[in-house]
Amino acid sequence: MSDIEIHKGLMGVYVDTSKVSKVVQETNSLTYRGYAVQDLAENCSFEEVAYLLWHGELPNKSELLDFLKLERSMRDLSDEAMTILRQFPASAHPMDTLRTVVSFLGVQDENWEDPSFDANVRKSIAMLSKIPTIIAADFRLRNGQEPIAPRDDLSLAENFFYMYFGKVPEAAVVKCFDTSLIFYAEHGFNASTFTGRAITSTLSDIYSSVTGAIGSLKGPLHGGANEAVMHTLLEIGSPEKAQAWIDDAMANKKLVMGFGHRVYKDGDSRVPYMTKVFHEVANLRDGQKWLEISKILEDTFVSKKGIHPNLDFPVGPAYYLMGFDIPVFTPIFVMSRITGWTAHIMEQLEDNKLMRPLNVYNGMEQREVKPLEQRAA
Ligand code: COA
Repeated sequence: MSDIEIHKGLMGVYVDTSKVSKVVQETNSLTYRGYAVQDLAENCSFEEVAYLLWHGELPNKSELLDFLKLERSMRDLSDEAMTILRQFPASAHPMDTLRTVVSFLGVQDENWEDPSFDANVRKSIAMLSKIPTIIAADFRLRNGQEPIAPRDDLSLAENFFYMYFGKVPEAAVVKCFDTSLIFYAEHGFNASTFTGRAITSTLSDIYSSVTGAIGSLKGPLHGGANEAVMHTLLEIGSPEKAQAWIDDAMANKKLVMGFGHRVYKDGDSRVPYMTKVFHEVANLRDGQKWLEISKILEDTFVSKKGIHPNLDFPVGPAYYLMGFDIPVFTPIFVMSRITGWTAHIMEQLEDNKLMRPLNVYNGMEQREVKPLEQRAA
């Protein structure tokens, strides 16, 4: 036991190589397939980034047109999937309903067993197309409204707004949302991606791996942080109360959601551009209050603790100002991360090794089973 080093939380353990993305600790930066994420956000749509993550290269014009045509053709849900959605109790968490319907997509796919790259890309596009429809329909049903059918003349982001609210908002709001999808798309071997790769390592199918990854993302230490940021801002309520709130949080060593990162210690490279597009939404949607509270929290936490905001910090209030229900924030994360997960699942299959780590046993010494009448009451 003494010479075995345990890596709790797998911290510092390299389990494989990957060409999908690079998280650079030293420069606090992130690249997808060699492109800096800020560069992608400024110059590409989320759909182009999805294509990049799966194929390793950005699409040319005709590749993009083919891709968009296919993605837009698969947005409808089957009657059976819609029937399942209608049966969920209103108390069900939107991540649980999403996880269940994504699993059902696998049940309905006659080709579920085909592990080839082409089949898996097609399944990934199908999930990318249908997940926004599931989230929007689930939201409307739990609010007593009929789902709105998807349109095939809108981008993925525009169509999601349309299915959720019945209309497409201002271009700056769509841009902010699309940017969040690009930034949430991929992040190396995080817990949900690792879950997806671990399931894939047993040669299970892509739907099973994605279903497990959704379960992993549901946890508040992973996907739930953007929701928690908004709860914090609502709890503070007004800029006048922000300084006292953050001083108290620091004095009592409270965890402040939306700050800190396991990898980026001096700031997250996604934050400046995300903050810029969030500010544009705040200006359009009367969100000055959230900007002011955010600034006080950030200035204080950075100067006094040296802990910087992460991506969830601007995204939480941005989604809130767009009008999304707070419990839908994490399902929106799935809408984006489905691209990174599936890119990793396909990469895992290219050079698979069953994942089977070891543990150090620290339970009881081996002992004999006593007959029932001799066991202590
Ligand atoms: N609020 C208050 N204190 C924080 C903090 C936060 N958000 N993030 C880090 N710290 C503190 C830690 O408590 C620790 O303090 P200590 O040295 O007195 O024990 C110190 O900063 C160093 O933290 P570190 O160990 O480097 O962070 P980590 O890698 O264990 O944790 C997170 C990283 C993301 C889990 C953590 O920052 C966190 O829980 N943040 C809030 C949740 C969140 O926003 N998650 C989304 C991540 S993208």
